Amino acid sequence: MKLRASPHGALSGRASVPGDKSISHRALLLAALAVGESRIEGLLEGEDVMATAATLRRLGVPVARHNGGSWTVAGVGVSGLAEPDTVLDLGNAGTGARLVMGLLAGHPFTAVVTGDSSLRRRPMGRVAAPLREMGATVLAREGDRLPLAVRGRADLLPLDWRSEVASAQVKSAILLAGLHAAGRTSVTEPLASRDHTERMLRAMGAEIAEEETEDGHRVTITGQPELRPRDFVVPGDPSSAAFPVVAAVLAEGSRIEIPGVGVNPLRAGLYRTLREMGARITETRPREQGGEPVADLVVESSDLEAVEVPAERAPRMIDEYPILAVAAARARGVTAMRGLGELRVKESDRFAAILEGLAACGVRCWSEGDDLFVEGAAGPPPGGGRVAARLDHRIAMSFLVLGGIARAPVTVEGAETIATSFPGFVALMNALGARIEEAGS
Ligand code: S3P
Repeated sequence: MKLRASPHGALSGRASVPGDKSISHRALLLAALAVGESRIEGLLEGEDVMATAATLRRLGVPVARHNGGSWTVAGVGVSGLAEPDTVLDLGNAGTGARLVMGLLAGHPFTAVVTGDSSLRRRPMGRVAAPLREMGATVLAREGDRLPLAVRGRADLLPLDWRSEVASAQVKSAILLAGLHAAGRTSVTEPLASRDHTERMLRAMGAEIAEEETEDGHRVTITGQPELRPRDFVVPGDPSSAAFPVVAAVLAEGSRIEIPGVGVNPLRAGLYRTLREMGARITETRPREQGGEPVADLVVESSDLEAVEVPAERAPRMIDEYPILAVAAARARGVTAMRGLGELRVKESDRFAAILEGLAACGVRCWSEGDDLFVEGAAGPPPGGGRVAARLDHRIAMSFLVLGGIARAPVTVEGAETIATSFPGFVALMNALGARIEEAGS
């Protein structure tokens, strides 16, 4: 599907974004490991999360959607998954694939995991290596890519792992495997990544300890707990809210409200950066929902100044660089974003996709090593480009936002990929005043 975003005026109104993708995957997966039935409200019904739900069903877990949109999962206990009689296809979902690998490691059967052509290119060695150390067998294609087969075992060995990258997917996969090991399993990452798994596991009765060490942030889980079922409430996804937020900051005269957005500090890097650039984003009614901090966002348009985004902030905004690059394109000055090596292994090579997409839209940008630089136009950038989504929802949505605040429309090819995380994106943006429509060939 090809979508075209044309320049729009002020955005206004109130709109709710769908449930958090990271939390939705985890709510399903952790509920499956509890003893008894859990209920989930606000689950993201995007393709990624639906692939995780389908995978759990293949593993023998009853997962149901009810009228009104709530979901129930009849948990089978920590070691209760059943051997699947077919391949587990996680589609585009890196979180789904990696967390499922962690679960499979603790089960004494063989399961094959695959995904779409984007996921089959992504590195799985970062998860396979620690799982092998714990005693699971993981047979994969060259470079530890999908499809791969996991043959787990019920008596996994506890592990003390140091991850080279700050990655919540790696950390969570190891913690999920650690549920099956007798004793304590630890993961240390150079900087703390999102902690949704830890929050949820604690609320379900698992023992989790966290500490700062010389090597970084260390999380330890005590294995073989009995997990209590839970009522999960999924907050709005700050990574999805980022698109209307940036559009409203950049379109003169805008004022929008987005209620019920997750504001977990380990996810809030974009919002901090935008504020440093001069954006007016206010959090009202701060509260807690399902063990996560949540607030309503009020966003007003503002002129932005370029800033330098330090590498240490990357784990807190790892998915938001494409949309930050769009904000930078309209700011005054050169925005420097440092330490973005991980962007090369996301749903697409986002590092390259940002550079090529911005260049196609007349925005000057360049890279030095893992650092990316965007020269802002101190006003609407030219636009007018055609951008390929590359099976990457965030690239698609970012460039549609760019089209709305540029001087000429931007066309995104392959925009159907938006449905992985944000079904209803086009309707929501247009209800606020954007002009996104299907484009002919
Ligand atoms: C996610 C973690 C991040 C992020 C992804 C979701 C998660 O990936 O990019 O969209 O739910 O744990 P990494 O853990 O690989 O950085």
